Amino acid sequence: MIKLKIDGKSIEVQSKKTIIEVADEVGIDIPRFCYHKKLTVAANCRMCLVQVKNIGKPLPACATQVMDGMEVSTKTKFTKEAQQSVMEFLLINHPLDCPICDQGGECELQDTAVAYGASESRYAEEKRVVVNKNIGPLISTDLTRCIQCTRCVRFLKEIGGVQELGLVGRGEHAEISAYVDKSVESELSGNIIDLCPVGALTSKPFRYKARTWELVRRPTISIHDSLGSNLEMHIKDDRVMRTLPKENDAINECWISDRDRFSYEGFYHNDRLLEPMIKKNKKWLKVDWEEALLFIAKNINRSIAHEGQDSVAFLHSPQSSIEESYLIHKIADKIGTQNVDYRITQKNFDFSGTWLGCEISEIETLDQVIILGSNMRFDQPLLTHRFRKMVHQGGKLIFINALEHDLLIPLEKKIICKSQEYRTQLIQMLRAVYEIEPKKIINQDILAFIKKQKLNADTLQWMKQFVKGKNKKAIFLGQNALEANDASDLVFLANCLAESVSGLFGSLSNYPNGVGLDLIAHKQELKSTKDMMAKKISSLITLNIEPKYDIRANINLTDLIQKINFKVAITPYSGDAFDDFDCLLPMAIYTESSGSYINIARKLQSIKAITSPKGQSRPAWKILRVLGNYLDLDDFDYDSSEQVLCKVIHPKKRLAYPPLAAKKFNNKEKPLKKDGRNEIHPILPEQSDMIVRRAISLHSKKNKPLINIRQEVL
Ligand code: SF4
Ligand code: FES
Repeated sequence: MIKLKIDGKSIEVQSKKTIIEVADEVGIDIPRFCYHKKLTVAANCRMCLVQVKNIGKPLPACATQVMDGMEVSTKTKFTKEAQQSVMEFLLINHPLDCPICDQGGECELQDTAVAYGASESRYAEEKRVVVNKNIGPLISTDLTRCIQCTRCVRFLKEIGGVQELGLVGRGEHAEISAYVDKSVESELSGNIIDLCPVGALTSKPFRYKARTWELVRRPTISIHDSLGSNLEMHIKDDRVMRTLPKENDAINECWISDRDRFSYEGFYHNDRLLEPMIKKNKKWLKVDWEEALLFIAKNINRSIAHEGQDSVAFLHSPQSSIEESYLIHKIADKIGTQNVDYRITQKNFDFSGTWLGCEISEIETLDQVIILGSNMRFDQPLLTHRFRKMVHQGGKLIFINALEHDLLIPLEKKIICKSQEYRTQLIQMLRAVYEIEPKKIINQDILAFIKKQKLNADTLQWMKQFVKGKNKKAIFLGQNALEANDASDLVFLANCLAESVSGLFGSLSNYPNGVGLDLIAHKQELKSTKDMMAKKISSLITLNIEPKYDIRANINLTDLIQKINFKVAITPYSGDAFDDFDCLLPMAIYTESSGSYINIARKLQSIKAITSPKGQSRPAWKILRVLGNYLDLDDFDYDSSEQVLCKVIHPKKRLAYPPLAAKKFNNKEKPLKKDGRNEIHPILPEQSDMIVRRAISLHSKKNKPLINIRQEVL
């Protein structure tokens, strides 16, 4: 620890910190443009100049480390003159077009000019003009406004993983540019809009839609991946106009993915279902809620009377809230059926638990990691960023996958194999551990099996360092591995491997509320979708699922759904996925409802409605509650989602999460079929759920959608 003074205030801080970091900690404001706490220091704008005692020239606070006995002044005449001069230089070429700039009202340049600049400009000569670049459908450029702080350049290189923007030219001719004919493709690209301290980079979908002071800001979370990134949605006239990150270092830091940022467009797609609908004589009819609910109750009761309780099934989305899942389970329970599941893309159900195995931020502290079967950049872009950070800090990443998927991370080793070979890969790793340090295989069940396996020389070679290193290790199974037919074997083997190297074991599941929904399902012995397939199901209620698109990776389940007689969808959207359904109930999207979600690191987050439900749509938990009443089931009188949540989560009781573990292991050696199909179903970020499939701007990116959704907006 060292002692120094800032503006006369004596403080004790750790050495190695910069003046700007220390000033931020003690609440002293130093103006800045190029400095950002999450990026490397460029020190090129010079806005943060401060005076240090006994040094004749002003020093940049962002690039000057504190020293013992240092005396820093941020408000003296000397500092003010330095800051004013820099401000004057920065404004020389700035167009000063604040009235027509989207950044107006939240512009760092505008605010800093008012606080630190002179009241008049002495510059009367011609200003330079920079031609705007088209860098894609999400980000608008007005490069004459750019002050060359290079925050955007550094973000894409350091956080995004690839330098898609650069500063070309020098002095008066310096300008920000993408590679010739290239747009910015990073799945985190929208963050440069927030980072740009001026209006040079603004949101294309939001452009000219509202002024910042007209917007009401409401907190919520994202349910498009398993992170639950914290968001702030900006609302005008009960409509979400844009989405920004809400800082939470434990989850998303100060970033969000483009999917989280621009998916709000999907809220207002023309496909929004605004009234209940029933099908009569093969024609869709708009009806009121009562008629629709009576229609459902009549048909469900008929199924039960003729074919028994087991003929009714429920499928809900992994995006469902805890409250929605609880109520759907309760309806099933009261009816007397166990046919309820949310694991719509899973084919093997002999394992439990969906969780990371550690805190999200802990990933950065790992030294050696093996990831098997994950299309991470598509599934969880911000989790991928944590692994990128880990590697930048010296960690080593070994990536085994069925898809040639560029993580934009320097890898220690990459193995591309068929998904059917994941099991063999894990067996070979365990065999290598046995060869290197036999005593490390603790699990006796696996020991005999492993001893019989042939040793692979290549695996032995690269596993040596992994086994012998005395550092922090981890094994993660990605969504692709969890969706494999032999997923329980993979969970069992990966668990044994982690145990043998004293490492962490976790899953990189992309189910948004997988942990929360597991918590509910774990309490009850429920049937899986595999069990349902073996039965005669005659009535099905789906919640927040577009079967044709959401379940396409699970062909058997899609076939089962097609054969069911009576189908009801509680859904925010209509569309061709529901052509063979009999009734559609309009549900509010998640920002129009309250609900609770548990992220992949077991963090519970509850959100409130931030806009009203569209048309006659209603929050799904309310629909399920009323459906319980119409089905004549008792104990469905909840007044709020909090009351429902209390049935699952008691504030004073610890939650009993199911462990991430396999229920059984098949120790028979399975011969690999040479022509075996690769079980990979990569889902591009803009296709992962109903909302993002309808977020038009996301679909204009170069990754063309596999599914074409009509591009219409309400
Ligand atoms: S475009 Fe914005 S973020 Fe990028 S260098 Fe210019 S001012 Fe900085
Ligand atoms: S913020 Fe220090 S030089 Fe730019």
